[in-house]
Amino acid sequence: MQTRNEMIVEPIGLNPDTLPRPLDFAALFGNPNPVEMEIGMGKGTFITEAAKARPDHNFFGIEWANWFWRYASDRLRRNHCTNARTVRADAPFFVREFVPDASLAVLHVYFPDPWPKKRHHKRRLIQEPFLKEVDRILVPGGRLQVVTDHKDYFEQIDTVVKGSKLTVVEYDRPGAAKEGEVVGTNFERKYIAEGRPFYAIAAVKSGAA
Ligand SMILES: C[S@@+](CC[C@H](N)C(=O)[O-])C[C@H]1O[C@@H](n2cnc3c(N)ncnc32)[C@H](O)[C@@H]1O
Repeated sequence: MQTRNEMIVEPIGLNPDTLPRPLDFAALFGNPNPVEMEIGMGKGTFITEAAKARPDHNFFGIEWANWFWRYASDRLRRNHCTNARTVRADAPFFVREFVPDASLAVLHVYFPDPWPKKRHHKRRLIQEPFLKEVDRILVPGGRLQVVTDHKDYFEQIDTVVKGSKLTVVEYDRPGAAKEGEVVGTNFERKYIAEGRPFYAIAAVKSGAA
C-alpha cells in the first residue's frame, strides 16, 4: 500500500484555509466550464474516470479521510486531470461555507456512509437541511445523483429528495461504469462481489439547463 508520504497532492489537492469564501470556480479552474462535484470520493475511481472522460467539465472532490483524500488527489495528478481539484474537508461544512449559489452542474454522492445505528442517523449526509443546500448550489437544470447499497438509508434519501424542491428524474449511469455497474466506484466493486443490491436516485433543479 502506498504510504501517505509517497502521495503527492499538489497541485490538485487544495488547502481550504487558502481558499476564498465563496469560491470562484471560473478563477480556480481558469475557465468557465460546468462544474461537477463529488462528495466522499474515497479512492477517487469515479472522479478520475469522469475527469478523464469529460475534459470540458471541471471536477471538484471533497473527502474527509486524510488517506483517501491524498490517494485520490495523487491519482488525479498521475492521470493528468488538470480539470480536477480536491479538498480534505467535512462536506456539509465545506458546501455551506465555500460553494456559491447556482454554481454546480452535477452533484455526485456515491455510497455515502450509511450510519446504520439509529442513534447515528443524525450523522447521515442526506437530510432535509442538506437538500436545501443542494437546491441552492445547483444551477437551474443541475442534477443530483445518489447511489447506496443501504436499503434503510435509501428510504430516507428517497423521502428527503422527493420532499425537496428538486424533481426526481431517471438516474444517469456514468459513462465510465463497466457492464453490470451502476456507477463504477471502489465500494461498488467490493459490494458487487458480496452480491449486494444497489439503489440509485437522481433529481434536477427546475429551470433551463
Ligand atoms: C463508503 S465510502 C465511499 C467512497 C466512494 N464514493 C466509493 O464509492 O468507493 C464513503 C466516503 O465518504 C467519506 N466521507 C464520509 N463523511 C464525509 C464528510 N462529512 N465529508 C466528506 N467526506 C466524507 C468517507 O471518508 C469515505 O471515503
